[in-house]
Amino acid sequence: MSKSKRTLLVTSALPYANGPIHLGHLVEYIQTDIWVRFQKLRGHNCLYVCADDAHGTPIMLRAQQEGITPEQLIEAVGQEHRTDFSDFNIGFDNYHSTHSPENRELSGLVYQRHRDAGHITTRTITQAYDAEQQMFLPDRFIRGECPRCGAADQYGDSCEVCGATYAPTELVNPVSAISGSTPVERESLHYFFKLADFEPLLRDWTTAGHVQEEVANKLNEWFEAGLREWDISRDAPYFGFRIPDTEDKYFYVWLDAPIGYMASFKNLCDRTGLDFDAWWNKDSEHELYHFIGKDIIYFHALFWPAMLAGAGMRTPTAVFAHGFLTIDGQKMSKSRGTFIKARTYLDYLNPEYLRYYFAARLGSGVDDIDLNLADFQQRVNSDLVGKVVNIASRCAGFIHKQFAGELADSCSEPELYAEFVAAGEAIAADYDAREFGHAIRKIMALADRANQYIDASKPWMLAKQAGREAEVQAVCSTGINLFRVLATWLQPVLPAMASDVEALLNIPPMTWDAVNAPLTAHKINKFKPLMTRVEQDKVDAMLEDSKEHLAGNEAELQPAGPLADDPVAETISFDDFVKLDLRIARIAKAEHVDGADKLLRLTLDLGGETRNVFAGIKSAYAPESLEGKLTVMVANLAPRKMRFGISEGMVLAAGSGGEDLWILSPDQGAQPGMRVK
Ligand code: 2FM
Ligand code: ZN
Repeated sequence: MSKSKRTLLVTSALPYANGPIHLGHLVEYIQTDIWVRFQKLRGHNCLYVCADDAHGTPIMLRAQQEGITPEQLIEAVGQEHRTDFSDFNIGFDNYHSTHSPENRELSGLVYQRHRDAGHITTRTITQAYDAEQQMFLPDRFIRGECPRCGAADQYGDSCEVCGATYAPTELVNPVSAISGSTPVERESLHYFFKLADFEPLLRDWTTAGHVQEEVANKLNEWFEAGLREWDISRDAPYFGFRIPDTEDKYFYVWLDAPIGYMASFKNLCDRTGLDFDAWWNKDSEHELYHFIGKDIIYFHALFWPAMLAGAGMRTPTAVFAHGFLTIDGQKMSKSRGTFIKARTYLDYLNPEYLRYYFAARLGSGVDDIDLNLADFQQRVNSDLVGKVVNIASRCAGFIHKQFAGELADSCSEPELYAEFVAAGEAIAADYDAREFGHAIRKIMALADRANQYIDASKPWMLAKQAGREAEVQAVCSTGINLFRVLATWLQPVLPAMASDVEALLNIPPMTWDAVNAPLTAHKINKFKPLMTRVEQDKVDAMLEDSKEHLAGNEAELQPAGPLADDPVAETISFDDFVKLDLRIARIAKAEHVDGADKLLRLTLDLGGETRNVFAGIKSAYAPESLEGKLTVMVANLAPRKMRFGISEGMVLAAGSGGEDLWILSPDQGAQPGMRVK
C-alpha cells in the first residue's frame, strides 16, 4: 500500500433531527469513525464531517405536536445527537445542520446550475390533500385498507401485512394520519430533476469501481427499469428551503440533505481557512467518501453524483454501503427492549465494548450485522479483558514495583517483536479495505502469541528466585512492548483505551509507525485497570430500561423523542398551562387492540362528543374494569397516528408503568365534558 500522504474527506449519513440516535445508527458512525481514525493514525490528512438532517414534513409535524417551532426542535435534538456521538468517541471534525446558511446557499447554487443547463422541468401533478390541515399528504401520512389483501390501517405506499406496493390513491377508505379526515385529490405544480439526462455519466461512474460489487448489480437493475424524473419540490407548509424564484415551493428534504455534506465542510473551511473549492471542483485531487446504509443507495449512487456532475462539481471517490443491525437475530423491537437508544446504552455500558464488537463483526459488504448479546459479552470479556488488557496487567506491576517503572534497556525478543510490527501492514490493508473483522482476528492472534510468551516465561516464578531480576525485567518489558503494538493496532477501534495506554506508558499520541522501535530504558506509570468485564446485570438493566422508555401512553408509538423523555419537567409559564384543555371523560368502552402489547382502545364520552384514544394501560387494567369510570383526559392534543389507528387525546395516569399505573379519577359529582382547571 502506498504510504504517501493522502487527503480524504469522509462523511456518514446525516441523522434526522426528530429522533434519538440508537444502536442501529451507531453501526455506521462507528464504522466510519474507525476508518477515519485509522487513516489519521497512518498520517493521512483525513477530515470527517456530518450534520443533522433537519428538514421535511415529519420534523415539521413533530414540532407542531410538541408545541414548539421546528427551529427549537432541531436545536434540542441536535444537542442530544452531538452529546451521544461524542460519548461514543465519534470524532467528527465538524458537525453541522442542513438548516444552515451554508446549505441554503449551496442548495440554491446546485439547483440554479441545473435549471440553467435545462435539467429541471415542471408539471402539474395530483396528490392527496388534507383539507382540514390544509396540506398535501406524503404517502406515509395516509392510512387505509390495503387494496390487495384488505388489511386495515396500512401506509399510503405499501402494506406491512402482504408486502404490496401501490399508489396512495389506491388505498381503500383512506384517512389522513394527521387529522383523521378523508383526503381529497388536489393539483399542484411540481419541479422535477431529469435524472435520465445523466444516464451515460452514471453508467460510467457506477462501473468504474466507485461502489461495491453488490451495489453495482443493484444499480444495473435500476438502469434497466429506466431512470425516472425525480420530484424535488414540496408545497407549503413545509420546513425547508424555498426554491429560488418561487413563491411557495420548497426543496424536498432529500435534495438539500446530501448537499449538507458539502455545507458542513464549507462551515469547517470558513472556521479553519481550508480551501473549499480545492476539495469540490471537478478536477479535485482530494478523495471523497460517503458511508451510508443500504437503504439509501439510490440517493447516493444516482441522484447525488448526477447533482454534483450537473453542477460542475467533483463526484465521490467511493460510496460505501453497509447492512442493517439486528439484535439477537431479529429486527430491533420496542417490546423486547432491543430498540436501544445510544443514551440508554451509555447509561449502563462502556462505549468501547460496542465499538469493539461492531468492528469484530464488520466487513466491506452490505450484509446485515447481528448484535448477539451473549456473544457480545463473551467476546469483549475474553478478547479485550482476558487477552489484551491481561498482557499489561501481568507485566506492568513487576516493572513498577521492582524496577521503579523502568523498562529494560534493550529488547530481549527482537524476533518476536519484529513479527508483531511486521503484521502491521496486513492489518492496515484490512482496515483500509474496511475488513475490520479480519483485522481484529489478526490482532487477537497476536494477543494469543503475547500471552503464550508470558505463560512460557513465567515472570511470577522468576520473581521469586534470587538473582533473576534482569530476566523478570526483560520478559515484562517485552510484554509491555508487545502490548503497545496491539494497543496501536486497536487504536482506531478503542480510542479511549488508547489514550489510557498512552498515559500508562508515558508516550506521546500513538502513530502507526512509532512502534517500529520498541520502548527501551523508558519509564512507565503505575498500572490502572484499563477495562472491566461486561456484566450480565448491566446488559439486563439496559434491556429493561429500553422497555421502560415505552411504558405508558407512548407505547407502540414512533420512538419517543428526547423532549418527550425528560423525566423532570421544566417549569412552564401560566400561558403554557392554560393551553392544556383537560376534561372529565367517561370511559364508555374499553377494548383490547389486536397485536398491541400495551394498549387499550378507549371510547371516551366528553358529554356529547366521543373520542377514540389508545392508552398504554393494558398492564394495569382489564378493559371491563374501566367501563363506566370517570377519568381526566387531555382533549386538545393533536390527533396522533399510531400503528392501530388515530388517537384523539390522552388519558392521564400516574405511576412508573407495568402494574404500577393508576388512571386519574375525579371525585363524585364531576360530569363528562367539564373543564379541569
Ligand atoms: O435516511 C436518513 O436517515 C437520512 N436522514 C440520511 C441523509 S444522508 C444525506 F444524504 F444527507
Ligand atoms: Zn396487504
